[in-house]
Amino acid sequence: MGPRDQAGRHRAELIRPMRTPICETLGIRHPIFGFSHSPDVVVAIAEAGGFPILGLARELPHEIPGIIADVETRLQSLPYGIDLMLPSRVPEAASIETVQQSLPAAHVAYVQGLRERFGVAPPTKPSFFTTQVRSEAMFEDQIRAVLDSNALGVATAIGLRSELIDEARRRGKVTFSLIGSVRHARKALDMGVDVLVAQGYDAGGHTGPVGTMSLVPQIVAMAGHRPVLAAGGIATGAQVLASLAMGAQGAWLGTLWMAAKENHTPSALMQRLVASGSEDTVITRAHSGKPCRVVRSDWIDAWGEPNAPAALDMPLQQALAGDVFASIHEHNDRRLIYEAAGQSVFGIRGETTVAQQMATLVHELDGAWQNLNTFARTTTPV
Ligand SMILES: Cc1cc2nc3c(=O)[nH]c(=O)nc-3n(C[C@H](O)[C@H](O)[C@H](O)COP(=O)(O)O)c2cc1C
Repeated sequence: MGPRDQAGRHRAELIRPMRTPICETLGIRHPIFGFSHSPDVVVAIAEAGGFPILGLARELPHEIPGIIADVETRLQSLPYGIDLMLPSRVPEAASIETVQQSLPAAHVAYVQGLRERFGVAPPTKPSFFTTQVRSEAMFEDQIRAVLDSNALGVATAIGLRSELIDEARRRGKVTFSLIGSVRHARKALDMGVDVLVAQGYDAGGHTGPVGTMSLVPQIVAMAGHRPVLAAGGIATGAQVLASLAMGAQGAWLGTLWMAAKENHTPSALMQRLVASGSEDTVITRAHSGKPCRVVRSDWIDAWGEPNAPAALDMPLQQALAGDVFASIHEHNDRRLIYEAAGQSVFGIRGETTVAQQMATLVHELDGAWQNLNTFARTTTPV
């Protein structure tokens, strides 16, 4: 055995992966769950021993079967999950053109004024945000694709659908529900959801009003034997350990992966994320119509100006201004670009890779555990 092998073995002995029962259930090495819309991130998280969850709520419906097939080919048999956002109170079926014709004139005029003020170039490529409106018909297609996939996990956010939960469980899948309050958690438990993802106010994306540190213990206390994961504001291994200390079986991260090169983050957004601290993320309805934590930009700030109208409800706000979101990403607009991002943005300090991020999280988790042991050994009992 050469010196490198010896060193590798020595390190492996020192860093015993910290595992929880859900790691056994899902067949993963680390209690780290990674949400991403990027197939490349998803594959890399799985390869690094975490459990990836592929977000499909903003993908073009006709592309979803191909995305799933591609991810499954690349994952071979590594376990993964898929996430959908299923709000209630959306139209049965809707074309974006029809919805756009019915939008309030004052809102249309305000957004047009902003487009002119900021010189927003029209997007040139079709995307979810320029061609789709969330509707029951869309959700039906998404649900069918997820049920027919080989994904081991099925996660849902914003809404709960008992038919989906029952059918997914019947097909041997593990169901996850992102919840932001005790009331939501009660509903999910009553519907038989397998895993609760307690997602605090600190999280990137759609959030409730309770912080992760206060939410997790309440959900653990009510979940009984069912596993809970902690989400929101988590960017370090010590926070993963803190999640386990609160009784969660793992941590679910979203924002951090935007720093990975596998995410193909536009350079203007990467610069903004690197330059941002937790206080640069705000909760706004301007993105989707529902409260959503994003990293601020001039576009988001414009919706807080005194003459700005209140955002429209989901799904109308995206029919109103989704083209701008698409445009500022396509054209890499340094002034306006924003994205869902949590207070965990403090963990983004430059471009890296998923493998590096996972190695760092695991190393920090182990370091935090050693620190606790040192406290326990070196302090005098009172
Ligand atoms: C860019 C981005 C997009 C997201 N999109 C979704 C989504 O479509 N569905 C969902 O359930 N959660 C979504 N989330 C939330 C994550 O699932 C996760 O709960 C959250 O990112 C955790 O907090 P953190 O961002 O501080 O790690 C998104 C988060 C980010 C950062």
